[in-house]
Amino acid sequence: MPHRHGHAASIRIIEVGPRDGLQHETAIVSTEAKVSFVNALSRTGVTEIEAGSFVSPRAIPQLADSDEVFQRIQRMPGVVYSALVPNERGLERARAARVDKISVFAAASETFSRRNINCSIRESVERFKPVVSGAKRDGMAVRGYISTATHCPFEGPVRPSRVVEVMRQLLDLGVDEISLGETVGKAVPRHIRFLLDAVRPLTVPAAFSLHVHDTYGMAVANVLIAWEEYGIEAFDTSAGGLGGCPYAPGASGNAATEDVIYALKASGASVAGDEWMVVAAAKQMEGILNHTLPSRLSRVSHIHPSCEPVP
Ligand code: HMG
Ligand code: MG
Repeated sequence: MPHRHGHAASIRIIEVGPRDGLQHETAIVSTEAKVSFVNALSRTGVTEIEAGSFVSPRAIPQLADSDEVFQRIQRMPGVVYSALVPNERGLERARAARVDKISVFAAASETFSRRNINCSIRESVERFKPVVSGAKRDGMAVRGYISTATHCPFEGPVRPSRVVEVMRQLLDLGVDEISLGETVGKAVPRHIRFLLDAVRPLTVPAAFSLHVHDTYGMAVANVLIAWEEYGIEAFDTSAGGLGGCPYAPGASGNAATEDVIYALKASGASVAGDEWMVVAAAKQMEGILNHTLPSRLSRVSHIHPSCEPVP
């Protein structure tokens, strides 16, 4: 993936604002505004943009127009455009939309699986089988999400061994990467260490992405330890910190893209994406939603001298 300075950034940023962010908004954002949000994000240099979701429009009316969004966006060469796909019907739509990558989504807790996709974990893996093989046959990459990786909004703490079990099954299906979803946003670095200690032996660090929500303000801390201590090099984030999951009561948005880019760069990492261009994209969406987004960088009113890591 080309970096704006001409070399490949080591840390990949997966911008999920247009999907995870907008699915949580009560207002239905127009197709036009979604397209222009994705286009603005495409110019920021992030690695990948989760631009929509091919789920039941009854489940997520906010994203019912994902087909049209994909038709109308201007794709930036080098940027990967992905979408959620829950079943074969969703795969058909993803294929027609010419997505680069699909994401199937499982959970580590039974209650969340039931509430979110109306089936057990085992049934969901069965359902994903033809979806994953069909996608791969058509040359699409496949991501496997595991939600409730540390906490479930209904069952409370989730044992890492449950995540390991689901992850094995998804890897057996042939998914290319795993996104560990901290759906609730309650985890602190201690929980993330427990989780990563358990799942790390299953695959290479490059196959992981960490997807943290920021309900309790711990998202950036969790990102930093996942990179510094475990070598995780992909993070799912949303511009402005937009978002949440309608099936996870009380959970707020993802780690804010601009805050994560800032934190990693200031720690000495090479990261895809320009944080200030992300702020601009977030402000554009803020104007449309008519409420303030929670990112810290978008509230910085004075640009301080650059902070190089102290040796
Ligand atoms: P179901 O009711 O069990 O299945 O839903 P169904 O097959 O009977 O379908 C119900 C209706 O949806 C039918 O329409 C289908 O045609 C239609 P009706 O006859 O009632 O008018 N339908 C579809 N329409 C368009 N595209 C499709 C599709 N599939 C069915 N692909 C189902 C099961 C999985 C479909 C449903 O529960 C669903 O769509 N759930 C999605 C929920 C969701 O999107 N949640 C948020 C994303 S997950 C998340 O945010 C977590 C994450 O960020 C990571 C983290 O933070 O942890 C990823
Ligand atoms: Mg999420």
